[in-house]
Amino acid sequence: EAAEKCGYEHFMLKEICEQPKALGDTLRPKLDKQGKLVFPPDIESLIKGASHLLITGCGTAYHAAMVASYVIEQVASIPVEVVIASELRYKHHIRKEGEVCILISQSGETADTIAALRMLKNLGIPTFAITNVVGCTLSREADKVMYTNAGPEIAVASTKAFTTQLLSLFALATLLAKAEQLVLLEALQQLPSQAQRLLDRQEDIQRFAANQFNKTKVFFMGRLVDYAISLESALKLKEISYTHSEAFAAGELKHGPIALVDTSTLVVALCTQPSLFAKMDSNIKEVKARGATALVITFEQVHTFDETADMIFRIPQTHPLFSPILTVMVSQLYAYYCSVQKGNDPDKPRNLAKSVTVE
Ligand code: G6P
Repeated sequence: EAAEKCGYEHFMLKEICEQPKALGDTLRPKLDKQGKLVFPPDIESLIKGASHLLITGCGTAYHAAMVASYVIEQVASIPVEVVIASELRYKHHIRKEGEVCILISQSGETADTIAALRMLKNLGIPTFAITNVVGCTLSREADKVMYTNAGPEIAVASTKAFTTQLLSLFALATLLAKAEQLVLLEALQQLPSQAQRLLDRQEDIQRFAANQFNKTKVFFMGRLVDYAISLESALKLKEISYTHSEAFAAGELKHGPIALVDTSTLVVALCTQPSLFAKMDSNIKEVKARGATALVITFEQVHTFDETADMIFRIPQTHPLFSPILTVMVSQLYAYYCSVQKGNDPDKPRNLAKSVTVE
């Protein structure tokens, strides 16, 4: 096992650090020699022919679906519905004309995702799986399949599988984009090296975790894709550090969560949507006024939060819609270092399984 960890203390840290390579390996097969996007013709025609997308998955894969819904609706103007697979399978789903379902699963063996797939096939809805494991059940039963090339993911908490799912979905969104296609394509191609630049500064996050890991309440908040990554960040932190963490859409702060904010609270504000910076800044001021500590995750060139935040972690500048690949890496590292500080084994968190294959 030590050899497989290649010198890293845990599989989770190894997998976090493998993301630049995994992202590159996932993007490369989707580009031709001129750097234009190429998808297998059957997948391209299925996706381009869809007038309505349904995206599903469980756990982290569901969060990838949520991010994709914001991105696809904005760049391609196609309506996207997102439903957790464990709900979708029991729900009275109404089939829409021209509907295609994308099912996301690292393992391709999650019982609820497979049950949702079978239900959709019974309804006659075309199915398209995005998975990381060649030959898995989902890949065999779905009409079409596309693989993420993340390589084996051993740690229970998903990291590189998630960011490669996002990259695959961003590539699909770029293929469907009605405008800005070249800008998006260029941004996609920069993500692997930007992920590396972020990792090069991981000690800043390690230091912050060393100061904050004892916080009993951690809230993540953001708007749009930052909200989806808030959910994923809270999930990661609770999974491996056993800290009570929650996520909410920043606009909902006043509708309940603010009642829980006090001096024992760390609030992580994800701020990557320029048109919403002022709104986020006032939310941060509201939690600070109640004694919370505020960490802001934003882009390198942004100074809106300099006076408000207790600490700012800056990510490389990308297209705001593609920021989730970078913001989530900050949360992964934060969760990992909190877990280690607490003396937990981040690779094998209590009560959790890598793949939930039974109901
Ligand atoms: C479990 C794992 C998660 C994963 C989820 C869905 O809960 O611990 O990391 O996101 O299952 O797994 P899948 O293989 O379908 O992506």
